[in-house]
Amino acid sequence: MTAVGIDAIEIWSGKLKLDLPNTFAPVKGDDPEKYTKGLGLEDSSFPDTYEDIVTMGANAAKQLMDRKGLKPSDIGRIDVATESAFDHSKPVSTYIAGCLEQVYDGDFRHANKGERKFACVAGTQSIDDAYNWIKAGRNRGRAALVVATDTALYARGDPGEATQGAGAVAMLITEEPSIVELSTEQGYGSMDETDFLKPNQQFPSVDGKRSMQVYLARMREALEDFESVAWDTHPEDFEYIPFHTPFPGMVRKAGLLGFRHMIRDTEIEDELEPEIGRQPRETDFESREAFEEAIRAHMDELKRTDRYQSWYADTIAPTLELSRRVGNWYTGSVHIARASALRHAAANGTDLVGQKLLVGSYGSGAQAEIHAETVRDGWKEEIEGLNIDDQLESRYDLTWSEYELVHDVHEYDKETDIDVEEFTQPSGEFVFTGWGRMNE
Ligand code: HMG
Repeated sequence: MTAVGIDAIEIWSGKLKLDLPNTFAPVKGDDPEKYTKGLGLEDSSFPDTYEDIVTMGANAAKQLMDRKGLKPSDIGRIDVATESAFDHSKPVSTYIAGCLEQVYDGDFRHANKGERKFACVAGTQSIDDAYNWIKAGRNRGRAALVVATDTALYARGDPGEATQGAGAVAMLITEEPSIVELSTEQGYGSMDETDFLKPNQQFPSVDGKRSMQVYLARMREALEDFESVAWDTHPEDFEYIPFHTPFPGMVRKAGLLGFRHMIRDTEIEDELEPEIGRQPRETDFESREAFEEAIRAHMDELKRTDRYQSWYADTIAPTLELSRRVGNWYTGSVHIARASALRHAAANGTDLVGQKLLVGSYGSGAQAEIHAETVRDGWKEEIEGLNIDDQLESRYDLTWSEYELVHDVHEYDKETDIDVEEFTQPSGEFVFTGWGRMNE
């Protein structure tokens, strides 16, 4: 059967950065370690005054098309995943296609364009749509372009402010892909939730603490659903487990949940029994509350074991290296986590061909999706082509007052009376020059 999956990835970071321990924490009067150790973040990426979801998405897509030597007619489908769309009618993919058509011969006239929305999980849903389109034989040999692009901004003073970020991930979905093959094994956890939402508003209304519980509840359900169909569900079956990463501290919790779940009735649980006992089973308790209390106590002990810590260091920590430096990119976040793990493996000379990844996506509202991927033999060359380190190193480091100005500029309804200058110099890329037109 023909393999279908991700053939290429390109990442475009917003060109500004906000240093959390050194710029954000002092203004908030917080211990810098709340950010570096608690949330697990060093910096957030921000869009310069001439960047937005369209320019970042178009720039990521152009890097991808150039590296792969593609022309518009090679692409039969463009899906943009975003929760920062500014247009309630035209999908962002039409704006991005319009940018790209300015610099390539030919156009995307015969490509099916759309926009996918389900908070952060929409990037993964777009990949699924592309996979199904190719598997159904409707692609006529053409590839699908998926772009996950967001400016993840919160109102100033909101607890989520520390977790902001901005950037785009472009991915090419093809037959016989170079990076990973997708599988048909999938699990979902999905319920109507109201802890994070933006009804006709730019910045989210968030119940932060509840959002973390909802993330974990939906992820556990998705894992259970995945286990009901999947062949491999032992924690050591997977080389890496990239999760949706609103901030690395959230993934610390998701990793522990996943490990506890997957080691039930395995030799790992046997091995740990003398140290921490077996996992509590719900049937042994009179109430749900008593069971949950016992699970929490068990997880506290589990996370201190050497067995868990070395699994976490090998399987989860490498997925967080980029996220730690860029913050939450919403739809792009889990794809940054995958790229981060693959980068880590390439830098360490790890042979990943044929190895499995377990990918845990999540979007508020709320839905988690878990699926397995198998690494293909072109992965290393593709990943070594990323220029994300250079991009992150060359970001402009904002002062607090510059950060406030940039935040105002990106707030749709805010009147800024300051004459806003750009902080970095664009060079040969798409820039925002006013509504209705993007120029290179
Ligand atoms: P907060 O009140 O600023 O932080 O809110 P906190 O007091 O809860 O502290 C955070 C962590 O730092 C805690 O760790 C503290 O103990 C620790 P934990 O107990 O949770 O393990 N800490 C310290 N550690 C070391 N040294 C110190 C120190 N001080 C504290 N000195 C919150 C945090 C996440 C609630 C907030 O940032 C927020 O509301 N964020 C936005 C919502 C969010 O990201 N939720 C995540 C799940 S929902 C999701 O992922 C979907 C999303 O991406 C949207 C979408 O799908 O579209 C958001």
